[in-house]
Amino acid sequence: MTASDKPNSGNTDTITVIDNKNNQRLDLDILTGEMGPDVIDIRKLYHDLDYFTYDPGFTSTASCDSAITYIDGEKGVLMHRGYKIEELSSQSNFIEVSYLLLYGELPNEQELAEFEKDVKRHSLVDEQLIRFYNGFRRDAHPMAIMVGVVGALSAFYHDSQDISDPKQRHLATIRLIGKMPTIAAMAYKYAIGQPFVYPSSELSYTGNFLRMMFSVPAEDYVPNPVLERAIDCLFVLHADHEQNASTSTVRLAGSSQANPFACIAAGIASLWGPAHGGANEAVLKMLIEIGHKDRIPEFIARAKDKKDPFRLMGFGHRVYKNYDPRAKVLRDSAHDVLSELGIADQPLFELALELEKIALEDEYFIKKKLFPNVDFYSGIILQAMGFPSSMFTVMFAIPRTAGWISQWHEMLGDPVQKIGRPRQRYIGHGPREYVSMDER
Ligand code: CMC
Repeated sequence: MTASDKPNSGNTDTITVIDNKNNQRLDLDILTGEMGPDVIDIRKLYHDLDYFTYDPGFTSTASCDSAITYIDGEKGVLMHRGYKIEELSSQSNFIEVSYLLLYGELPNEQELAEFEKDVKRHSLVDEQLIRFYNGFRRDAHPMAIMVGVVGALSAFYHDSQDISDPKQRHLATIRLIGKMPTIAAMAYKYAIGQPFVYPSSELSYTGNFLRMMFSVPAEDYVPNPVLERAIDCLFVLHADHEQNASTSTVRLAGSSQANPFACIAAGIASLWGPAHGGANEAVLKMLIEIGHKDRIPEFIARAKDKKDPFRLMGFGHRVYKNYDPRAKVLRDSAHDVLSELGIADQPLFELALELEKIALEDEYFIKKKLFPNVDFYSGIILQAMGFPSSMFTVMFAIPRTAGWISQWHEMLGDPVQKIGRPRQRYIGHGPREYVSMDER
């Protein structure tokens, strides 16, 4: 393949595919985005040359145009709608960022107030849905409950599933953002055998969530503002991250015109894996297993050993080849939370800091550009605040819902999008004679 500098119509360059095997060639357009690498438009490749492309894990494939989130992995930059994550996490709140993701602009005071009121008005779940929980074992993983209950919203809210109706799409959006904390807190309360706590519109989105998680009917509960702010910041940091596995899953499910509740349930399922959102739970387990800083070299050696499947959880990222900017914010936030709780010298945090230091000085991690990612410090914050590790990935799913649903809207509004349908390179048997049962 050779690049040609000949501009084509529309002010784009082309790249020429030269097929020596069949003696043919094809010019493909190079499309330019606002920022980031240019993309080669390969849509006519199969039609004109009879070739597919092969890219397991989509390491070199852009599946869509998007105007929501931009990541510069080499520089460690993350922006939503052009605003840097550091500014959003320090100056905005989660509801504001959800609005930004959905509608493209930061809301003014009135827009924010209306949006927030709308979200709060939809935080209750149908009483019948509450009965669902009794069907789960008490030791069910909360992510299993999330997949089931969020998918089950499709069975309750029939007036928000016609995806061709903008009003219904909006209603489903608000319902999902509003109900996620309620569904999540109920999963926790069910596991520990405490009564469910109904949402309160008097509190902020995160204050209400903390109350639903940690209050009991016998006592008053006032959320600690430092912890409330820390959870809000965590939610902002997790709100969107362009075309990651769960977001791509939501888009793929949505491309078949499935209803929004089913699509978000699919995203939750994808998020659950330890290579994705499940890593925050895995990091804490790993830190507990390491136990003492004297054992760090042993675990670093295991992470480097090709024969050992162990990986340093909370390290590495498909896109970031630099420090994940979200991890930086969370490291500072961990300091604030632990100080507020009077456990600034918490051993797991000290262990995490030491592990980070040693890994960042290690040749293997330097060479492979493996840095702490968003999951490295989040578990420490959450554990200190009293969240069980099984809830950590749930704490990722709640805010990511804002990103998933924004990406789902964008996909539905994109005239170029069609049902997602990757191709394959077939490597199985060629045609063969059927073998009857008595001859096998
Ligand atoms: N520990 C040790 N080695 C690692 C690690 C790690 N955490 N991550 C990557 N590597 C090595 C890997 O073995 C490979 O080496 P080689 O080139 O010699 O085969 C190289 O680095 C590239 O790794 P990869 O698996 O090809 O990279 P990827 O982009 O497919 O995977 C990742 C990215 C996040 C799945 C991976 O870094 C990983 O498994 N990290 C640990 C799990 C984790 O923290 N996940 C959270 C990701 S951030 C939040 C989110 O997305 O939800």
